[in-house]
Amino acid sequence: MAVQQTILVTGGAGFIGSHLIRLLVNKYPNYKIVNLDALTYAGNLENLADIENADNYTFVKGDITDSDFIQELFTLHQFDGVIHLAAESHVDRSIANPMSFIVTNIVGTVNLLNAARHHWKDQYEGKRFYHVSTDEVYGTLGETGLFTEETSYDPRSPYSASKASSDHLVRAYHHTYGLPVVVSNCSNNYGPNQFPEKLLPLFINNIRHNKPLPVYGDGKYTRDWLWVKDHAEAIDVIYHKGKLGDTYNIGGHNEWKNIDIIHLLCDIMDNLLERPKGSSRELITYVKDRPGHDRRYAIDASKLQDELGWVPSLQMEEGLTKTAKWYLDHANWLENVTSGTYQKYYDAQYVDR
Ligand code: NAD
Ligand code: TYD
Repeated sequence: MAVQQTILVTGGAGFIGSHLIRLLVNKYPNYKIVNLDALTYAGNLENLADIENADNYTFVKGDITDSDFIQELFTLHQFDGVIHLAAESHVDRSIANPMSFIVTNIVGTVNLLNAARHHWKDQYEGKRFYHVSTDEVYGTLGETGLFTEETSYDPRSPYSASKASSDHLVRAYHHTYGLPVVVSNCSNNYGPNQFPEKLLPLFINNIRHNKPLPVYGDGKYTRDWLWVKDHAEAIDVIYHKGKLGDTYNIGGHNEWKNIDIIHLLCDIMDNLLERPKGSSRELITYVKDRPGHDRRYAIDASKLQDELGWVPSLQMEEGLTKTAKWYLDHANWLENVTSGTYQKYYDAQYVDR
């Protein structure tokens, strides 16, 4: 079968990346999909066990911060497109150790931009560099309003500042060198394969073990939740149909205060674990707030819906039930990723709260 195009996906062993790789490998047998991932604590090849032997898929272990290695990889594979997801992604870790976020998220992104520029040599027909980013670059909202593509950047954590910086650099390469880029900024994702340092998988894992559920501050912080497979679908649509140089916001129109989504999760878990109603809620423990905690995120995704026809597929209760079931059915996955250094992270993160 003739290869139609070769796409480099970075960070494909992580949470969102693994769902995207599966979608691309299954949907486009004529594409060659190369997954580049450093396999940090957040990257896990178990996430892709079902497609690891597919003919149109190759995994490469490597680091986006290594510029020589990235240049060689471009020479070897002659990529037509890049979908860039590799990043340090957890806000709490960025507060504890900002430097790894600066190096991976900013320097790593520039290495990829340089390699694309160098290898495409101003011949941009059929080429595309897609940068996957977050709504956290926009900062925080009050009680009302939504982030649009025109909202000014106002990042407030080392994580969001490093992602904002990488977004700016991607756009700068478009304006300065004509690199054919597209950017998307998405809200909080949830679903299978998310590392249990983020709110929902952490709480599912703690409920399993009857451990306290550490709610930061007053619990009234608001996030706009999106089913991870809907994000992967949106990336597919934007990669193929997005206008070069443009930005697309992706979100589920699905705002929840943390405490409300936690209550819903607790009730779903009681049901699935056949525990008396209310027992998981008893684990809720209010703890010291995250420094600089953004109060509210909410996305206006109407540009993506109107121009490219993407809409989210799942309602929260259904998505959360599927998510909780997945983690309960994949207890081995949870045990594997929470062995070793996870315990050290957990103790450092929650001991003084
Ligand atoms: P994740 O932490 O689950 O996965 C990140 C992946 O990148 C891991 O597989 C890791 O091994 C890899 N990686 C890290 N450093 C690397 C390096 N130096 N070289 C190569 N690979 C490296 O993250 P995620 O939640 O899947 O997020 C993926 C992308 O989507 C990130 O860019 C993130 O900013 C963005 N995003 C995430 C969310 C969310 O809710 N999770 C929302 C919007 C945008
Ligand atoms: P998180 O999953 O870390 O995503 P983000 O900070 O990128 O939005 O956190 C989601 C929300 O849950 C956020 O308001 C912080 C809060 N939170 C807790 O209350 N307790 C926790 O242990 C964690 C990890 C998060």
